[in-house]
Amino acid sequence: MKIAMLTSGGDCQGLNATMRGVAKTLYSEVEDMTIYGIADGYRGLIEGDYEKLKKSDFSGILTLGGTILGTSRQPFKKMRDIEENGVDKVKAMKETYKKLKLDCLVILGGNGTHKTANLLREEGLNVITLPKTIDNDLWGTDVTFGFHSALDIATDVIDRIHTTATSHGRIFVVEIMGHKAGWLTLYAGIAGGADIILIPEIPYDIKAVKREIDRREAANKDFSIVAVAEGAISLAESRMSKKEFKAYREAMKQPSIAYRVADEIAQDTDYEVRVVVPGHIQRGGAPSPYDRVLCTRFGSYAAHLIINREFGNMVAMKDGVITAVPLSEVAGRLKTVPTDSQMIVAARQIGISLGDK
Ligand code: F6P
Repeated sequence: MKIAMLTSGGDCQGLNATMRGVAKTLYSEVEDMTIYGIADGYRGLIEGDYEKLKKSDFSGILTLGGTILGTSRQPFKKMRDIEENGVDKVKAMKETYKKLKLDCLVILGGNGTHKTANLLREEGLNVITLPKTIDNDLWGTDVTFGFHSALDIATDVIDRIHTTATSHGRIFVVEIMGHKAGWLTLYAGIAGGADIILIPEIPYDIKAVKREIDRREAANKDFSIVAVAEGAISLAESRMSKKEFKAYREAMKQPSIAYRVADEIAQDTDYEVRVVVPGHIQRGGAPSPYDRVLCTRFGSYAAHLIINREFGNMVAMKDGVITAVPLSEVAGRLKTVPTDSQMIVAARQIGISLGDK
C-alpha cells in the first residue's frame, strides 16, 4: 500500500503526533507499506515536492511541535485559478497523486484545507483528513487537535497576567487567537477567571464592557481581565455590510482588536490599561498530554479507515467516541460557539460579562 501525507494551513501542536499515530498503525498492520511526505501542504502536491519517508522518521516526534513536513496556506478560493506560469493546480495535484500510484492521500488541516480536500475527493482521489486547528472551529467534530494545547498556553497567559494585574490594579486586555470562532477565548477566559470575555459570536457594546469594569471598581476590585478574541466585533460593526466592515477595519488605527478595546476602555477614564497579545506562542511547542492522546487515537483510527478503504472521510470525535464524518458534510461549514450553549450560560451565571449587556 502507498499513501502520502501532507499538513496544510496554520500549524498547531499535535501534527507530528497525529502522523505518527497513522504511520505506526499502518506499519504494524500492513505488510508492504510506503509512506510519502509532501512538503509544505498543497504547495508540495502541486509542485511534486515530496520524499519517501522511513519508519524511523516517525520515531521521537510524539512531543515535537510544528510539522516535520512543513506547511503553507494555499487559499481554496484560488485553487481553480490557473497560475501566471500556466500551472493548473488541481491538475498538477492529481498528477502527483497518480505519479506516486497512491492508494490514499492523508491530509491534516483546518477549514480551508478541508475545502480543498473535498475538491480533491470530488476529482476522484482517495482522501482521509484529520481535524487540526487551535481554533476548534471545524464542523463535524467536538474537538480538533491543537485546541487543548493552545488552551493550556492561553490559560497560563491569563493566570500570569492575573497576578500582575492585581498587584498594580490595572485593566488588562488579553487577545486570544481565533478570527471566526471564540472557542479558545471562551475556554481560556473561563479557565483563567477572566472578568469579561469578548467573542466573535457575541458582538460587544463597549458601554457594557466599561460598566462591568466600573461595577468591579465600585466593589473594590480595582483590576479587571478582558479576554478578547482576535475576531471579536462591536455591536456597530455587527450591523455593517461586509464591504463597510472591511473599510472600517482598514481605517482602524490600532494594530489589532485588543488595542482598540484598550483605547476604548481608557477613553475618559483614569484606568491604567495594558494589552497582551500572546499570538503565535499559542500554536508553538509540544502538544499537551490531552492532545498527544487525542492525536494518537485520531491517527490510528485514520489508519483503519485507510486499511478498510473507507475514503472521503474526516476523522472526528463525537461524544467521546472517535468516528468518521463524510468530507462532503464538513467542507465549508464552520463550528462557532452557540450563543445559548451551556458554556455561555455558565459563564454568565458566575458573573462573567460577555460584553453585550
Ligand atoms: O488557524 C489558526 C490561527 O492561529 C488562527 O487562530 C489565527 O487567526 C490564524 O491562524 C493566524 O494565521 P497566520 O499563522 O497565518 O498568521
